[in-house]
Amino acid sequence: MSNFTPTAADLKVPAYVKNPKLVQWVGEMAALCKPAAIHWCDGSDEEYRALCEQLVAAGTFIRLNADKRPNSFLARSAPSDVARVEDRTYICSQEREDAGPTNNWKAPDEMRATLQPLFDGCMAGRTMYVVPFSMGPLGSPIAHIGVELSDSPYVAVNMKIMTRMGQAVYDVLGEQGEFVPCVHTVGAPLQPGQKDVAWPCNDTKYIVHYPETREIWSYGSGYGGNALLGKKCFALRIASIMGHDEGWLAEHMLILGVTNPEGRKYHMAAAFPSACGKTNFSMLVPPAGFDGWKVTTVGDDIAWVKPQPDGSLRAINPEAGYFGVAPGTSYKTNPNCMRSLDKNVIFTNVALTDDGDVWWEGMEQDVEGKVLPAHLVDWQGKDWTPELAKATGAKAAHPNARFTVAAINNPALDEAWDDPAGVPIDAFIFGGRRSTTVPLVTEARNWTEGVYMAATMGSETTAAAAGQQGVVRRDPFAMLPFSGYHMGDYFQHWLSLGERLQAQGAKLPRIYTTNWFRKDAQGQFVWPGYGENMRVLKWMIDRLEGQVQGEQTLVGVAPRYEEINWKGVDFTPAQFQVATGIDAVVWREELASHAGWLAQFGSRLPQALEQARVDISARLDS
Ligand code: GTP
Ligand code: SPV
Ligand code: MN
Repeated sequence: MSNFTPTAADLKVPAYVKNPKLVQWVGEMAALCKPAAIHWCDGSDEEYRALCEQLVAAGTFIRLNADKRPNSFLARSAPSDVARVEDRTYICSQEREDAGPTNNWKAPDEMRATLQPLFDGCMAGRTMYVVPFSMGPLGSPIAHIGVELSDSPYVAVNMKIMTRMGQAVYDVLGEQGEFVPCVHTVGAPLQPGQKDVAWPCNDTKYIVHYPETREIWSYGSGYGGNALLGKKCFALRIASIMGHDEGWLAEHMLILGVTNPEGRKYHMAAAFPSACGKTNFSMLVPPAGFDGWKVTTVGDDIAWVKPQPDGSLRAINPEAGYFGVAPGTSYKTNPNCMRSLDKNVIFTNVALTDDGDVWWEGMEQDVEGKVLPAHLVDWQGKDWTPELAKATGAKAAHPNARFTVAAINNPALDEAWDDPAGVPIDAFIFGGRRSTTVPLVTEARNWTEGVYMAATMGSETTAAAAGQQGVVRRDPFAMLPFSGYHMGDYFQHWLSLGERLQAQGAKLPRIYTTNWFRKDAQGQFVWPGYGENMRVLKWMIDRLEGQVQGEQTLVGVAPRYEEINWKGVDFTPAQFQVATGIDAVVWREELASHAGWLAQFGSRLPQALEQARVDISARLDS
């Protein structure tokens, strides 16, 4: 590394940037990464347009047919860079114990020594974009500021959609303001004269967090949560640590509003693991039989939940856009999502139709007879036909293909989505993807039982993360890959929050668990899911209003068949039994698996959770 530190003049710092710490840091990072140029993003529409044009010229973006999909683009990533890389993600706390048994850990000094040579000169031949962003409404007391330095213009335009990005952030930052420094490189320096590729990246990848100094360093990937550092790295991993220290929660949760025909409105925050239905549930369209009901979206992926002086919990969505799973989305399964995608969208790794529009598996669901396009160009740029798919199983879109779109595109956007005060949370929902064992819905009898159910939640792995798909793993609170600190301490943080609010005399939100993904003996989903999840949502609200009793089960209170509104759907008691059954033999195994899972947290496992396990096991045996 050179000792050269560029001056503010060398860096061409815009006059509106007045934070000396920021300027110094950009200087140090420029000296380390050695970019050919620096671009201070102002977040303007002109800048967005120019960067998109540049991405088209570079071959990273394909402009879609303006009649079908105005101002929209398709990007195809390298086949080796298609999802989050959990095995390359590190929490580098001073003490290994503070990262806990579920995170990868390296000592900060050791990690810095590893990263230093990788970052030295990593941006050669490229432009370093300085991307200032606010997670949460600009200037709100609950928002936090980050600055991402990235050599990827794809990242810069995605950050413009996903966050409040641009010049106004510097006004909030002022001279003394704090920001989380986030450095990102695709790890593909260019030699003089070397031609760039459409999706530069590196086989070596590191997604690194230093919790004590609240820094993020990301190397080698341009995709999603690996590269858009405001999202998982900041708003979940670093923010979960801030929340632990300051008494609030940063969660992998959607937030929705649901209004009944009488006009009473409730807010739910739901944690489902990656690619397990958050975007879908947050945009739910009530089915037939639910006249007058309305669901509105506050957020689809992340919630920051803060206790109020009166003991209530209010939540904001720190993001400003959606980076959502495309496959499976159709006018039948999620019409509001489809309408959100009609213009101003960046698609990544979906298929291209012959008329310059996009396609992905599942889009045919709303078409009579499920007609597949006769020809497509797949996510890797190769020809695709239904015949080929039938013969080889070739997917036109990558299973983790995604869209990036502004929240304001969503026709079901909640009026309070941007309110700095957030919305009051009436219930938390935790839902995994389990083809067996876990019933459709239960309500925890108390906060501790709810925390236990969330802490032991299992889910089948999905394409959102690299690695084997469809294997059940514990994904506590849907936060396994996202907690920035020891999972045992995280459980205790939830328990302590409940105790604190209760001591204040507050009524705690109810806690529910759901499973939309149970399968029958033929391997088909038993529960119709999607908009039909409204039937479960209404039962929860009926519980909140004290209108239904439910019945006691091993793991909480569950609905009786007749307590669910079945108007407009044919779902028999026998099917209901398959979706909700709790089998004693299977649950004995499940609880044994819980015991093994919890044991690893050792002395940091809250005693109350071990007690909850003992209580449930005793109930099973009696
Ligand atoms: P991340 O953005 O990765 O955190 O995911 P997410 O939780 O927002 O997942 P999303 O809503 O995008 O859903 C992912 C996949 O699950 C899609 O293929 C959906 O079609 C499918 N899915 C969503 N809801 C349901 C449901 O109720 N039932 C079934 N069977 N599938 C669903
Ligand atoms: C997830 O994996 O939970 C996502 C997508 O929301 S990514 O931003 O890539 O992490
Ligand atoms: Mn997510």
